[in-house]
Amino acid sequence: MTEQTEEQAKGYRPVAVLTQIEKTYHLDSVSVPVIRGVDIFVRQACFTVLLGPSGSGKTTLLNMIGCIDKPDKGEVIVSNCKVGELTDDALSDFRAKNIGFIFQNFNLLPVLSAYENIEYPLLLAGISAKKRGERVPKLLEAVGLSDRAKNLPGQLSGGQRQRVAIARALARKPKLVIADEPTANLDSQTGAAILTLMRRMVDRYQISFIFSSHDPEVIKAADDTIFLHDGAIRGVRRKGVGEAA
Ligand SMILES: Nc1ncnc2c1ncn2[C@@H]1O[C@H](COP(=O)(O)OP(=O)(O)OP(=O)(O)O)[C@@H](O)[C@H]1O
Ligand SMILES: [Mg+2]
Repeated sequence: MTEQTEEQAKGYRPVAVLTQIEKTYHLDSVSVPVIRGVDIFVRQACFTVLLGPSGSGKTTLLNMIGCIDKPDKGEVIVSNCKVGELTDDALSDFRAKNIGFIFQNFNLLPVLSAYENIEYPLLLAGISAKKRGERVPKLLEAVGLSDRAKNLPGQLSGGQRQRVAIARALARKPKLVIADEPTANLDSQTGAAILTLMRRMVDRYQISFIFSSHDPEVIKAADDTIFLHDGAIRGVRRKGVGEAA
């Protein structure tokens, strides 16, 4: 039985399934295998942590789950779509509709206000001014920043910037949000608040979050933890939904 059929037999529904993923980087004449036969089943509406030391392949894997990068071997299915079969144009369309991204360095546009940063993906998607005007204030409210709408990123704290990035990632109501070490540049208290916020977003909007970290503390907030070491899965721990501390 593959991991996919095993997990589905338990009644779990997937938002992403990776099967026998392999990835090798080639630098000059040296080949470095970075992901070595990885199977991952990401449950819908759960908070999944991808935990592993620096260099274990977390970013490489997240880039493949997020359809930013392709594996050398293996299959990636996101939201029931075999993404390897899509053309480049169809893939970027699929990504914009289905996947939100949050980065370690926030990646906000410095010349746009908090409001405008959140509005930006909606503008790109051709959403009407009326709908944008309804949605952005709700997102600002959801991340506790209604009173900072006009601030530029440079006028926000690190934690506030990451809240804007979370709201922006949620703007198009994605199925899956990918967060690559989103608390790495924050002090531990602010990082903990961001974790709590993400946990709340999973529960409130039934979104699936996958979050990479090398901090074992984050396990407490997770439904599922996938342990990665040296490009291979070392184990998976799943809590019952809603059991997270
Ligand atoms: N573009 C690249 N070209 C060559 N090697 C790469 C490339 N990107 C990553 N690697 C190598 O792949 C391995 C995994 O890198 P990756 O960035 O996925 O690890 P990580 O778990 O995200 O680490 P960190 O916690 O430090 O962010 C590392 O050994 C890295 O040196
Ligand atoms: Mg990384």
